[in-house]
Amino acid sequence: MTLSFTVERNQNPASDEKLAEILANPGFGDHFTDHMVSIEWNGNYEDGGEWSNAKVEPYGPLQLDPAAAVLHYGQEIFEGIKAYRHADGSVYTFRPEQNAARLNTSARRLALPELPEEFFIEAIRQLVTIDERWVPSGEGEALYLRPFMIATEAYLGVRPSGKVKFMVIASPAGNYFGTPEPVNIWLSTKYARAGEGGTGFAKCGGNYAAAMMGQIEAQEHGCQQVIFKDPHREDAIEELGGMNVLFVFGKERKVVTPALTGTILDGITRKSLLQLARDRGLTVEERKFTLDEWKLALEDGSLTEVAACGTAAVVAPFGKLIAEDFELPPASEGFGEISQSLREELVGIQTGKVEDRHGWLTKLVSAGAVA
Ligand code: PLP
Ligand code: COI
Repeated sequence: MTLSFTVERNQNPASDEKLAEILANPGFGDHFTDHMVSIEWNGNYEDGGEWSNAKVEPYGPLQLDPAAAVLHYGQEIFEGIKAYRHADGSVYTFRPEQNAARLNTSARRLALPELPEEFFIEAIRQLVTIDERWVPSGEGEALYLRPFMIATEAYLGVRPSGKVKFMVIASPAGNYFGTPEPVNIWLSTKYARAGEGGTGFAKCGGNYAAAMMGQIEAQEHGCQQVIFKDPHREDAIEELGGMNVLFVFGKERKVVTPALTGTILDGITRKSLLQLARDRGLTVEERKFTLDEWKLALEDGSLTEVAACGTAAVVAPFGKLIAEDFELPPASEGFGEISQSLREELVGIQTGKVEDRHGWLTKLVSAGAVA
């Protein structure tokens, strides 16, 4: 399948001075590049349809009918993936076929059409190529890409939309938490982000809306993120509002992470870190990990590190776990040894400093290529 993109260049791109100012302190999700990409789908959910009208155009507001299905019934899914600058100036991305597959997993759950993997990767390539100068090169920095799909049909009946738009926008990114320090985590007992049979495994906007009140509670308690547990499964730990969680048992050389039970996201960072852990001979367990086990493992000293992981945050050490009626101390002071070294290896692969032995990288822009 091929799709050709029409390209309309932004006649008013960010000046070199403005871009330098942004790249000096990119933050996260605050600034957007000069262009965006879109592909449209027309059809019928049952009988199928066709992707067409692939475009690269100046970044700007969308024209959307006020009756567009996404605005009423929330048919929306998204992805998060980064483009990394290598030392020779070339730009690579990391496991894009995994993001393409996960987008389609989400699409199937939200009754949206699947997007062929090659369209997903080509859309990213088009955007990163034309906005190549926006890819930062500082330590821990990358161009964060946000592919997403929305239902655009103007129709108020509740049924899958017959018109859909897939888009990619991009934003230069530094440290998600704005600090390399451990992040305090709020344990939500009042709110759930997902439930059995729901959309927890899909990356859809609704999950983040459902997690928002938990995030607000977190901030009110001096925490940067919220973690959810499942009260129906012995308080099994699930994940954070926007990241997975890893528990490291240093003396046993073991990494434990909640199993993919349908209520949490199949994170690509999680998956990759588990592979790197296995490669080093660490034991990896994907299983139920309860709040009680967390408490006991801290008490007996076997739990030595807890870390969040995701594309935006990479790997970040947990500080305290704070709940309504108790508090758990950090498992380690600062970054734990194993999670920090796994992070370094992962970032090393992504940025071309460590051998890509699993073939995880895809080149987007060659060294010396100027858009
Ligand atoms: N869990 C949630 C809810 C997320 O939003 C993310 C971020 O994408 C992750 C986990 C981590 O997934 P990934 O490593 O693919 O970015
Ligand atoms: C990502 O890591 O890509 C995410 O979607 C997390 C989000 C909280 C920014």
